[in-house]
Amino acid sequence: MVNVFRYHEISESSHRILNPLSFDKVLLLGDICRIAKGTRLLDLACGKGEMLCIFARDLGASGVGIDIHAPHLADARARATELGVERAVTFIEGDAGDPPELGGGFDIVSCIGATWIGGGLSGTLELMRQRVVPGGWLLVGEVYWAEPPPPHVKQKYATGQGFADLAGTLDRFEAADLELVEMVLASPEDWDRYAASQWLNVSNWLAANPDDAEAPEILEERNTSRRDYLADERRCLGWGVFVLRAQG
Ligand SMILES: C[S@@+](CC[C@H](N)C(=O)[O-])C[C@H]1O[C@@H](n2cnc3c(N)ncnc32)[C@H](O)[C@@H]1O
Repeated sequence: MVNVFRYHEISESSHRILNPLSFDKVLLLGDICRIAKGTRLLDLACGKGEMLCIFARDLGASGVGIDIHAPHLADARARATELGVERAVTFIEGDAGDPPELGGGFDIVSCIGATWIGGGLSGTLELMRQRVVPGGWLLVGEVYWAEPPPPHVKQKYATGQGFADLAGTLDRFEAADLELVEMVLASPEDWDRYAASQWLNVSNWLAANPDDAEAPEILEERNTSRRDYLADERRCLGWGVFVLRAQG
């Protein structure tokens, strides 16, 4: 089976945002959280660092991003330089489930699309809560069931703590003693942009690397994930960023 990091490196080669939210919706999150000059963010599993870099350039924020995949961090640092925010953002390679001591609380702690890092949603929320200032915001990007999934889809996503529908997702946050105060959901079109653009990236890579030893596995993974998306996942999988505050 192809390495999941390697597959996504190829399938998301043209992406700056490694999740189904559009660029405009990322900016909307900045508005919702009143990000302004001086706001400090910690982004766990930051990917290519686009969100941090944009919040730094457009809103005057600063922050730290942690990701386990070195090629993503190289992209993140290059992007920070390109946007002239390399003094405002720092990117650290490491396991975001065991982040280094970074000193002081952050105004916003985010984990967008990687809630497995703390052993599942509840562990990740606890990890985030420990690093946010009192009254600060947590931004969690998570899958929810937009429609009840057929058993084989539910089974595929049964690792970790699984997912719930939107009301059940609220229950998960309340069980962690967090208040859901806002959310930005990906539309079906946002999902299509995220998923379908990956088919083209893989196709382009295969055309450029026909003799690569990994080519057959990359093709197989693309074909399987494309069929799964079209058959069920496009209908059943929802995705959003949920804005939370610690109670009291
Ligand atoms: C779906 S991507 C989301 C990236 C980014 N948050 C975004 O929305 O663009 C998941 C990210 O989690 C990173 N990742 C996976 N496991 C990790 C871990 N244990 N610690 C840090 N990063 C991790 C991957 O390298 C990848 O960049």
